[in-house]
Amino acid sequence: MNILIIGSGGRESAFAYKLAQSPKLDKLFIAPGNAGTGQYGENVPLKVTDFKGIGEFVLANDIQMVVVGPEEPLVKGIHDYFLADEQLKGIAVIGPQQEGAQLEGSKDFSKEFMIRHQVPTAAFRSFDKTNLEEGLAYLDTQKLPIVLKADGLAQGKGVLILDSYEEAKAELKAMISDAKFGEASNVVVVEEFLKGIELSVFVLTDGKDHKVLPSAKDYKRIGEGDTGLNTGGMGSVSPVPFADQTFLDKVEERIIKPTVDGLKKDNIPYKGFIFIGLMNVEGEPYVIEYNVRMGDPETESVLLRIESDLVDLLEGVAQGNLADRSYTVSPKTAATVMLVSGGYPGSYEQGKVISNIENVKESIVFHAGTKLVNGEVQTAGGRVIAVTALEEDLFSALQQATADAGRIFFQGKYFRTDIGFDLI
Ligand code: AMP
Ligand code: GLY
Repeated sequence: MNILIIGSGGRESAFAYKLAQSPKLDKLFIAPGNAGTGQYGENVPLKVTDFKGIGEFVLANDIQMVVVGPEEPLVKGIHDYFLADEQLKGIAVIGPQQEGAQLEGSKDFSKEFMIRHQVPTAAFRSFDKTNLEEGLAYLDTQKLPIVLKADGLAQGKGVLILDSYEEAKAELKAMISDAKFGEASNVVVVEEFLKGIELSVFVLTDGKDHKVLPSAKDYKRIGEGDTGLNTGGMGSVSPVPFADQTFLDKVEERIIKPTVDGLKKDNIPYKGFIFIGLMNVEGEPYVIEYNVRMGDPETESVLLRIESDLVDLLEGVAQGNLADRSYTVSPKTAATVMLVSGGYPGSYEQGKVISNIENVKESIVFHAGTKLVNGEVQTAGGRVIAVTALEEDLFSALQQATADAGRIFFQGKYFRTDIGFDLI
């Protein structure tokens, strides 16, 4: 079959790498892709939200499946667009429709969903301009620190953790009255702070059954020892050593099953990935957030551990018979180290020549923010390249990925040398 991947980051590079291995694949396209995805298929210069352009391309190229990487096209309704079109409605789209995408697109929706289906999560209340005064008074009744979350998509920046009541009140006002995060903070969720260790669990579902994909831990801060500003993710490891079978069984029973069943009960069709951000609070799992896509750079680690044919699994999602598809996971450990542009997550320069990628022999190099200019690979974003190693144990995987991260060069290159070492 012919498949189109939507997106251009390290996550989409990992999808391209994995889908390209399938005997069921004929032609692979990536829209828009990057300098690395061209080795697995054909890059197509289309924006991820250009639904009309994507639809026309799909028909012109006999594409049978569209795998949506990022959340934006899902929240904006790419799947609904396909279903509403006579010629496109038969094409498999991997990723939920707009309604299901609200699990990520609206924090308030996702919190209400969790409460309705008894999924453990931090206590919360939502406020908007109609009850701002009540919200300010509510803050005084809460324990510090206080978590404020913009309801809508805010490019990963909409969560504030505040250590004083004054700051919390000022920020709640700024979010609701001064549109600190634009429309995304018209509604703000005020949440109890959960103290624990974070990890992510990924689920693939056809809306009836599901497969639990490998768990992963993401390193969000820019600095060594988890310090400094938040980023999109500086590295990841899979599996997560502290997520033992007892813990994962709790996640399955208390979180994954009620989530998939809850979607069914609410009559929300859902074909795609669910990314569950979890806090392990003294051995008990709580949901911090749902995302309706895979994580980046978690996907790079997670997909390397899936031994089964991903096209076959996604076909199961599309056809509603995922339960019948074979699914096996490697017991090995995957580690990913992200190379970023100097200055990221603040401002940074682009267009730096990247060299020595060919010197990496043991790890997989997944391009993220890269572009080809006159045959030369250049930087074109904050997160530039993900280097992923799959080895027998965590230490070997970390050592390999970190060593290989050092082998690639571009001006201003930065990466963390401590990814995963806290887990050893
Ligand atoms: P989110 O955008 O919901 O993933 O939140 C961003 C980050 O804020 C998470 O990855 C956590 O580190 C942190 N966070 C969010 N909610 C909570 C909470 N209730 N308690 C503690 N930390 C939180
Ligand atoms: N790595 C976190 C995310 O993809 O949202």
